[in-house]
Amino acid sequence: MASAESNPKPFSLEPYQVSEDFGFLLKEPLQELPPHYKPWMDIALHIPELVESHELRTQINKMPMLSCEFLQNEKELRLAHLVLSMMTMGYVWQEGEKDTVEKLPCNLAVPLWKVSQSLGLPPILTHADGVLANWKKKDPKGSFSIENLELLISLPGEDSVRGFFLVTLLVELAAVPAIKNIPVVINGVRCGDTNAVARALENISQSIQDMTDALKLMHVYVEPSVFYGIMRIFLSGWKDNPSMPKGLIYEGVQKEPMEYSGGSAAQSSLLHCFDELLGIKHEESSSSFLNRMRDYMPPAHKQLIQDICHQPSLKSFVQQHNCEHLKQAYHLCVSKLLALRNYHITVVSRFITVPAARTRQLRKQSQDLEDETITKAPIALEERGTGGSGIMNFLKTVRDQTKDAFIPETS
Ligand code: HEM
Repeated sequence: MASAESNPKPFSLEPYQVSEDFGFLLKEPLQELPPHYKPWMDIALHIPELVESHELRTQINKMPMLSCEFLQNEKELRLAHLVLSMMTMGYVWQEGEKDTVEKLPCNLAVPLWKVSQSLGLPPILTHADGVLANWKKKDPKGSFSIENLELLISLPGEDSVRGFFLVTLLVELAAVPAIKNIPVVINGVRCGDTNAVARALENISQSIQDMTDALKLMHVYVEPSVFYGIMRIFLSGWKDNPSMPKGLIYEGVQKEPMEYSGGSAAQSSLLHCFDELLGIKHEESSSSFLNRMRDYMPPAHKQLIQDICHQPSLKSFVQQHNCEHLKQAYHLCVSKLLALRNYHITVVSRFITVPAARTRQLRKQSQDLEDETITKAPIALEERGTGGSGIMNFLKTVRDQTKDAFIPETS
């Protein structure tokens, strides 16, 4: 265990591109790229219509090859990654799972690759793009309500796409007080201040409760049949995906195909931070997927998770101090995280398991299925998450491992 002497500087969020107001969200993302990139923006701003009219691939194939040299700062690179990765999802999945492509044309693949290299992100749509860097306020002085928020770039699925990304953004925002209190916990443990740690854990618990409340809005703003039948395929990747078993060739980058997982909030840094802080350990079967998801985060956020993991153990601190207030605060935090994971399972059931069962039933009855939105869903994804995991077993295992963090009365 590291001692206070070996960690002289207080732990702070500053080196990790995490802000006290916005947490992991990109603060005020840019809305426009330099004029040189107009050909990208002209297409990216119309992805849903171009997919609908089956023209997106044709338009992208005609796009000029643009150099990335005019992208000069982090915000321009993040917007470029959002724009290029959204176009990539539209390009690959325009015709559904039956008519995918083997390669991404070089005029899209090469800049996406270069921008990804500069940011340390993979060349595919991630949570860091679709949620963290994909928002603007309609009225800049107005509040962070869904009504006052808009996406910069969208995908097929109309209001449900907007709802899905923006509700997830509200979950990220609800977590800001929790993130702010992580250094308070770490510094309190380092200097043995049980009261400071207990109070910070209570603040984190409240913030996790607020995340669960924000997640409930998914039912208000997202239509399950649209999520399942239309949107979901556009979040899917080309790893562990039977409809693209070989992966995708990024033309002009590498001759061999490459495999990347699709976008998922498993790539959000929030729960990874809480797990490390609270000492929640995941067994090999789930940790391999969760750890892989860390490679889909901005590197500074991944570093924060790793650095939290290397701090003196909070759980041991709670066990060593005979302080009822501290123990209760720790238990409250674990139970709020457990409740969030339980609620998330309910959401996944409503948005994936139920529509999947209904689709199977409709297929069996083999009626005229054209009018049913959910039956347009990819068969390959029925049992899998967009990140490629076998869904319910995985989520329940992760939930159950959260329970293991409770400290038994006797210890
Ligand atoms: C309609 C809404 C949602 C659906 C259908 C959904 C679905 C899923 C699925 C299928 C997985 C399994 C991993 C994968 O293959 O991607 C997953 C994992 C996960 N999701 Fe969601 N999700 C939703 C919203 C959210 C939101 C808003 C958050 C919060 C930021 C979130 C956080 C997580 C986390 C942290 C995991 C990893 C498992 C864990 O740590 O418990 N999800 N989700």
